[in-house]
Amino acid sequence: MDTFQALVARQDGDRVVAAVETLQTSELPPGEVTIRVLYSSVNFKDALALTAKGGVVRDYPIVPGIDLTGEVVSSDSPDFAPGDLVLAHGYQIGTGHHGGYAEYARLPADQVVALGPLSPQEGAAIGTAGFTAAMSVLALVGRGIRPPHGPIVVTGATGGVGSVSVDLLAAAGYHVVASTGKADQADHLRSLGASEVIGRLPADPDAKPRPLGKTRWAAAVDCVGGATLADVLSTLEYGGAVAASGLTGGAALNTTVMPFILRGVALLGIDSVQLPIEPRRELWAQLGGALKPRHLGQLTHEVDVKDVVAVLDEVRAGRYSGRAVVKVAGGF
Ligand SMILES: NC(=O)c1ccc[n+]([C@@H]2O[C@H](COP(=O)([O-])OP(=O)(O)OC[C@H]3O[C@@H](n4cnc5c(N)ncnc54)[C@H](OP(=O)(O)O)[C@@H]3O)[C@@H](O)[C@H]2O)c1
Repeated sequence: MDTFQALVARQDGDRVVAAVETLQTSELPPGEVTIRVLYSSVNFKDALALTAKGGVVRDYPIVPGIDLTGEVVSSDSPDFAPGDLVLAHGYQIGTGHHGGYAEYARLPADQVVALGPLSPQEGAAIGTAGFTAAMSVLALVGRGIRPPHGPIVVTGATGGVGSVSVDLLAAAGYHVVASTGKADQADHLRSLGASEVIGRLPADPDAKPRPLGKTRWAAAVDCVGGATLADVLSTLEYGGAVAASGLTGGAALNTTVMPFILRGVALLGIDSVQLPIEPRRELWAQLGGALKPRHLGQLTHEVDVKDVVAVLDEVRAGRYSGRAVVKVAGGF
């Protein structure tokens, strides 16, 4: 194996373009574990990686794909052996060095997770977004939020983080309110476990934001940020919490201290990228067991890696629903 196929993103003037190329094995980054990639997935960050000034890739060319599952083909680490099925995501995979949209990847052993009982396809279906959803749900549980406390709103509900959060929260017995800009996906969200489906928040984007609004939610999983997160913060019940992971609606947060000092509200930051490997492996073990999303098949679509750019365009525009699993082996 001297060469392999990869989707390579290159800067072309003020654009980023991606095309299938043949790379040399010597171009793989350093690391103890070489992996034959079977699947990757589509995450919002992959769309940003293909966006000029997207802010996630410093140096092009790069193979995007911030997560991957596959089979170990060689290992200089005692922790992994050829034939092991593994997954990896976070750190700088697909943003600082070559990622999952290639037939081969090479990674440090302390970034690699054993797949356990999950199949490579299931691991990719959960992927970075599903892992982040699980971190968000567990952060709320750790804060003491329980089903009898009231409804949990999930924003960006048809997206990757959102749809897996709906699934996990409903399975844990919470009353889930799915907030989405895609009214035609209401039945789909109910089939994942949402008890109610509402539009995006704030309901009136032109209204002046209020420091404290009428309380509506015991807690929230928010991957949208911006005006949506500000609205959620101002409408949480006393002692409520929001697990905040994303910025599809904007990075700025225009709020006041009022929800924090008058309602004891908590803003829980969620970061899957730098999470150390031990808790990362522990959470993946849970995702392969009791925490496994119940509707993975229903919220997943498969796409060949050679066709992934069109899907990334839909994700960037906020039009995509669910999780796209990227078939890498046999997908070029
Ligand atoms: N902190 C972390 O470790 C971590 C990990 C994974 C992801 N993230 C971040 O979390 C966010 C979601 O990631 P993802 O992969 O789930 O993305 P995704 O699949 O594209 O889902 C994002 C959803 O946000 C909603 N949305 C899109 N544009 C919007 C806009 N302008 N205003 C309001 N809502 C909008 C859409 O849902 P509806 O149409 O249903 O409203 C969309 O489906 C991203 O910002 C990503 O970078 C962070």
